[in-house]
Amino acid sequence: MRNPTLPDELTVQVELPTIMPRSKRRPSVLRTEAQQAVEADPEIPHLTESELIERIQHLRQERNAVILAHNYQLPIIQDLADFVGDSLQLSQQAAKTDAPVIVFCGVHFMAETASILCPDKTVLIPDPEAGCSLASTVTAEEVREWKAKHPDGVVVAYVNTNADVKAEADYCCTSSNAVKVVQAIPEEKEILFLPDMFLGLYVQRMTGRKVHLWLGECHVHAGFRAEDIVRAMQTYPDADLLLHPECGCVSQCMFALAEGELPKERTFVHSTGGMVRHVRQSPTRIHLVATEVGMLHRLKKEAPDKQFIPVKSDAICEYMKTITLPKLYRSLRDMVYEVRVPEAIATRARRAIDRMLEVV
Ligand code: 13P
Ligand code: SF4
Repeated sequence: MRNPTLPDELTVQVELPTIMPRSKRRPSVLRTEAQQAVEADPEIPHLTESELIERIQHLRQERNAVILAHNYQLPIIQDLADFVGDSLQLSQQAAKTDAPVIVFCGVHFMAETASILCPDKTVLIPDPEAGCSLASTVTAEEVREWKAKHPDGVVVAYVNTNADVKAEADYCCTSSNAVKVVQAIPEEKEILFLPDMFLGLYVQRMTGRKVHLWLGECHVHAGFRAEDIVRAMQTYPDADLLLHPECGCVSQCMFALAEGELPKERTFVHSTGGMVRHVRQSPTRIHLVATEVGMLHRLKKEAPDKQFIPVKSDAICEYMKTITLPKLYRSLRDMVYEVRVPEAIATRARRAIDRMLEVV
C-alpha cells in the first residue's frame, strides 16, 4: 500500500567530494589458504555439521577459549559464540575476558584490535584472509603523507583500519561512537577523518564540524542508494528504517530527514549494536534493515516476534563469510591463526583505542 506522505524519490542532493575513492585494493577471498587447508585436511571433510559442533564444544572448554563473533557472521557461527556484537562491543568484551584464548570470528582488523587490547592472550582468527575492503583503502604511509599536509590536524581513525594505520591516529572510533569522539576534540582543531567518507560526512553533519575526509568506502555499504530506501519505505510504510552510517545514501537520507522528506520518528542511523538495542525497545513490528544481511539473523534472535526486511538482500560481506564451521574447528584444534601485532605498533595503536574508550 502506497503511503502518500512518503516521497517517490529524495529530492535533496548531497554534494559528495568529487575525487573518486582511492584504489580499492580489494583483497580476494575466492580460495584462501585456510580454505585449502580444511579441504586437504585428513579429518575435517569427513565430519558432519553436528560432529564439528561437538568437537568445537569440547575444544573450547579444553583450551579455556572464548568465541567472539561479529553481528555479520554466518548464523551457525553466531549461535556458537559466547558473545555476538558490534566492533566496539567486541573490543570491550576482548578487553575484559579472563579467558587465555580468544577465537575471533570476524574480520582481521577486529582480531588485531583484540590482540592490541590483550597482548598477553592468544588471539586466533579462523581465516586470516578475512579482510575488509574499507580498511584496505588506506595505508600507514598515506596517513603520514596526509598528516604532513595538515600538521595541526587530529586524526580520527574508524576501527575498520589495520593496526599500523591506527598507530598513526590520535583517536579511534566506531560507528556507534564516531560523533561522540569528534565532539570530544577541542573546537579549534582540524579533524582528519578516515577511511569511510560516508561515516565522515555523517559525523560532519551531526557535529557541525569541518572534517577532512579520506575518500574510502566499504563495497557492501556503498551500494545502498536512496532509491532502495524510498522503495522499501513505500512498500512497508509503517516500518522503522535502520540505516548503518557506512551506507552510501546516509548523507542524502540525513538531509532528507532534516527537510521532512523522511519521517523523523521512523528513521534511525545505528551501528549494528545500536540496531539490536533499537529492536529490543521499539514497539514497531516491521523493521527495514539497511546493512549487511548477517544482521538479520541477530535481530530475529533478539526479537523473534518482529519482522525484519533487508533493504538490499545482496548486501553480503564475503570477508565476514570466510569464517566457517570447519575453519573454526581447525582454529581451535590446531591453535591457528594467531594474530599478534608488533609491540611498537601495538603501543601506539592502543593509545588511540584507549582514547576512544575513555570517551564512550
Ligand atoms: P559495526 O561497528 O556497526 O558493527 O560495524 C562494523 C562493520 O564492519 C560495518 O561494516
Ligand atoms: Fe569491511 Fe564492509 Fe565487510 Fe564491514 S561490511 S567488514 S566495512 S567490507
